[in-house]
Amino acid sequence: MALLEIKKYPEKILKEKAAPVESIDGKLQRLIDDMVNTMYAAPGVGLAAPQVGVSKRLIVIDVSMKEEEKTPLIVLINPEIIEEEGIVEDEEGCLSLPQYITTVKRAERVVVKGFNREGNPIEIEGTGLLSRALQHEIDHLNGILIIDRISPIKREFFKKRFKKSLVRG
Ligand code: NI
Repeated sequence: MALLEIKKYPEKILKEKAAPVESIDGKLQRLIDDMVNTMYAAPGVGLAAPQVGVSKRLIVIDVSMKEEEKTPLIVLINPEIIEEEGIVEDEEGCLSLPQYITTVKRAERVVVKGFNREGNPIEIEGTGLLSRALQHEIDHLNGILIIDRISPIKREFFKKRFKKSLVRG
């Protein structure tokens, strides 16, 4: 297993809509293992394939280090939100936007369908952090970052801060 480089804003791949996974082969299994490894090493609670430079609809999530409830590692291929309910605002960060935390409105509960790494159809219901992580990672597959989910005024502040950080190096 290898650690993959995590792509950071403003890399172009983070803005692209990822393509569906068409076959679950050895290459995909290696990518899954490497993504899981990279997520734990970061450390993060989720990672989407575009964040490691692969524009495919694949996400991995493990919220167990942050939640009481022990949800096992989730690997989801071609995930789709099929139900959402309620709305809740909470703080969120992203491995592709280091040092940035903002409040984001999300559905309180979601049901997501997709395929597991064996290629079997699965459905996952999430509330709390799991719901937030599912929505955040699926956003990555559609080229959406947390800065696209905040008010225009907050986005302006983010961009100014980002430019300053480049100047400072
Ligand atoms: Ni993210």
